[in-house]
Amino acid sequence: SASVDDIAETLKQFGLDTVPHAPNTFPALNPFDVYRSHITELLAKASGIDAKIIYPALQWTQTLEKGDLCIPVPALRVKGKKPADFAAELAQLFPESPLVHPPTAKDQYLQFFFRAAPLTSLVLPSILKAESSFGFNPSLGLVDPSNPSSHRKKLIVEFSSPNIAKPFHAGHLRSTIIGGFLANVYEGAGWDVIRMNYLGDWGKQYGVLAVGFDEFGSEEELVKNPIGHLYDVYVKISKISAEEADKVKALKEQATAAKEKGDTEGAEKLEKEYTKIQEDGVDERARKYFKRMADGEERALGIWKRFRDLSIEKYKATYARLNIQYDDYSGESQVKEESMEAAARIMAEKKVSEESEGAVLVDLTKYSKKLGKALVKKKDGTSLYLTRDIGAAFERFEKYHFDKMIYVVASQQDLHLAQLFKIEEAMGRKDVADRCQHINFGMVLGMSTRKGTAKFLDDILRDVGEKMHEVMRGNQAKYEQVEDPVKTADTLGISAVMVQDMKGKRINNYTFDMDRMTSFEGDTGPYLQYAHARLCSISRKAGFSPADLATANLALLSEPHAIDLVRQLATWPDVFLNTVKTQEPTTVLTYLFKMAHALSSSYDHLQVVGSEKEVSKARAALYASARQVLWNGMRVLGLSPVERM
Ligand code: ARG
Repeated sequence: SASVDDIAETLKQFGLDTVPHAPNTFPALNPFDVYRSHITELLAKASGIDAKIIYPALQWTQTLEKGDLCIPVPALRVKGKKPADFAAELAQLFPESPLVHPPTAKDQYLQFFFRAAPLTSLVLPSILKAESSFGFNPSLGLVDPSNPSSHRKKLIVEFSSPNIAKPFHAGHLRSTIIGGFLANVYEGAGWDVIRMNYLGDWGKQYGVLAVGFDEFGSEEELVKNPIGHLYDVYVKISKISAEEADKVKALKEQATAAKEKGDTEGAEKLEKEYTKIQEDGVDERARKYFKRMADGEERALGIWKRFRDLSIEKYKATYARLNIQYDDYSGESQVKEESMEAAARIMAEKKVSEESEGAVLVDLTKYSKKLGKALVKKKDGTSLYLTRDIGAAFERFEKYHFDKMIYVVASQQDLHLAQLFKIEEAMGRKDVADRCQHINFGMVLGMSTRKGTAKFLDDILRDVGEKMHEVMRGNQAKYEQVEDPVKTADTLGISAVMVQDMKGKRINNYTFDMDRMTSFEGDTGPYLQYAHARLCSISRKAGFSPADLATANLALLSEPHAIDLVRQLATWPDVFLNTVKTQEPTTVLTYLFKMAHALSSSYDHLQVVGSEKEVSKARAALYASARQVLWNGMRVLGLSPVERM
């Protein structure tokens, strides 16, 4: 990437002898840091206001018409002046600068517009030099950001976490997309990121599954399609189990009725009948089977482990389509009995937990009514979902010594995670609790595909891919030029699903709308992909080499459309910084759509092919920079930018 020396060289050309460099800023990585430092320096000198107050008062603007940076003057904390007058006064005393135009006073705001020529010379070469790293800042994840040799902070992102033999539902889809995004964001900020999948793979239902496999399972099907097959088996056996439960209930009622009528013989016969079901039925066999698993019996565990391993293998392939690779396939089954026992001991010792009718619970109402009472051990001594999460958190802390751990889980589980964190704290482990964060999200409404309600991630992706293929066929002339339409449709389909998911704030619900998400119009995945592909096509047609672009005369980019594009490109490092703060994919997407819109309205004004050679080269450099920034943003989101479509 660009070095401070490069920046110094550029600034010298515009008459600035030193690189403005406030403490803890990164002028070589972020052009806005140069401007903030520069404006602060000049304004502090001219007004006598402390630089430490001015710097943080500099804000982004909503739109380019309001400047590149602004100061709401009340933030300068100078008393006894009307904001509008004060803004005007500051505008007056701000000295001439090679980097910014004389500021404009607008109501209570002081607006700063960057001069085009130095901005362009700073930004475009930085992008073309930094390429895929432009906008990211690996220092942020350092324990001491000002000391490059300090060690990187460690983050666990736990996300997706589906349940074996159960459908992959909307909650898992969103967790996968948002979790993948968050992992990328923190990596871009220099953290050491561990991607973890915490499978739902433990509990009596896995005894049910094993019993079901005995009855309905097929080796061949299992190997071919483990996720789908196990689900089918589970549905079949669950149905039998439910029928048995109904039967027992009916027989019991009949027996009671018989007894009341004085028909003891009949009652006895009925009793025998339902006891037999209770003793040999699916439920009891499953309970026994799971008991063997819980006791660590090798044969029982062996079968279950095969289910788990085959499912994981299949998941891996699907996640790869979303550009996700896990470092750790953990799961509820992996939580050690010792960890849960150790936690139980501490909870008992510290009187965090109490016995209640043979079970153990934690009364969290003393911290907050909303937290309620949480069961941590069942009467029969077995663990629960919550118990396993408590054990898992401490195990992970022991193993990884994480600085932060993010759980990406639907907002339906807000209470569960709040209980988990509060219990950790009550156990005297605020050190762990404070490092944990629940990233939640709203629901997906109506997630059904044309083949019915979607059950597996693969089905969803295949269906959207097919729909996308259909949309592409709608434009026959274009369609014929696409090299591998099936693969392209697949990639576009995945983008469609992901962008629809990440467009709004995480907490909002949204409706799964196949027609809307696959459209080329509106702010959709295909639209974003189109913007990228078009830039690729421009650069192919222009045919300049990277060396050509590096020597382009950027002063030729003088049209308002070109300047505005440069101004937008310049903000990407700040948009990324803000994304680290908001942890919202929409922060990136909103920016990318703005860019895409600005690009599409600039093509008519800034033609590359057919313009005079030097002009053409400068514009090609601008578009190459835009493509790079678009690519960088799409990659953070987890998308695979296409070059042709
Ligand atoms: N498997 C769970 C479910 O499908 C989600 C797990 C969330 N993570 C956790 N640590 N509890 O509901």
